[in-house]
Amino acid sequence: MAKVIILSGAGISAESGISTFRDGGGLWEKHKIEDVCYAGCLETNRKLTIDFYDSRREELKDKEPNYAHKVIAKLKNKYKEQIAVITQNIDDMFEKAGCDKVLHLHGFLRELKCEKCGNILDIAYEKQDTKYETCPKCQNKLRPNIVFFAEIAPKYEDMYKEFDDCEFFVVIGTSGAVINTDMFLNPDIKVSILNNLEPSGYLMEEVYTKVLHKKASEAIDEIAFDIEKFLKEEK
Ligand code: APR
Repeated sequence: MAKVIILSGAGISAESGISTFRDGGGLWEKHKIEDVCYAGCLETNRKLTIDFYDSRREELKDKEPNYAHKVIAKLKNKYKEQIAVITQNIDDMFEKAGCDKVLHLHGFLRELKCEKCGNILDIAYEKQDTKYETCPKCQNKLRPNIVFFAEIAPKYEDMYKEFDDCEFFVVIGTSGAVINTDMFLNPDIKVSILNNLEPSGYLMEEVYTKVLHKKASEAIDEIAFDIEKFLKEEK
């Protein structure tokens, strides 16, 4: 349970050169999201799906965390118990910025998961294709450790637990299309900050105590200042 929750989406990684989902007219790297990110896509077009994530994974190798990731990593490492870093992103920018214990709600691109026993392998930026066909533990098929649409997202339970005593809620770089962050704003949350490039049709900006329409790297210093001030007053 964390006093401060920082929940991010694709927008926080945009300045690291990682494409968002809904700015590109619904295409993710020239693929329709439903073709490569919908339950059943591994059965209907396994090769296309695995090749798609192999390319995304390989691209990650040269991507660097931006200033927003670095500031959040520093805050998390300074306030380990009071701050929870939760993201919808599958990239490893927070990890590259040195951030511990990031909760990835929709999976983690560097990992493969056994379809049978659930065994997880971190293959860094390698291709899965032939080298990682089967699970070393039970020899069943491996798949990208990504939560597809219409699949269960087990980490959501962990996220809900973090909100048990949250009083400061930060939302950075998410349209709210999948997780409508408005729903977390209960009376116990004294401060809520929404940072996106522009208003989103999915979110009601008026319910947040502060809204910042700017790049995450330009908003993060103000957000970090507010978080530290809040935590110091908490003591
Ligand atoms: N700084 C801050 N915000 C930004 C930036 C930036 N540099 N660039 C874009 N944004 C904002 C946009 O204004 C938009 O509100 O980031 C948001 C990106 O929204 P989406 O593309 O919908 O991404 P996201 O909200 O993370 O999608 C949620 O949908 O496709 C699924 O599983 C996938 O996790 C993903 C989920």
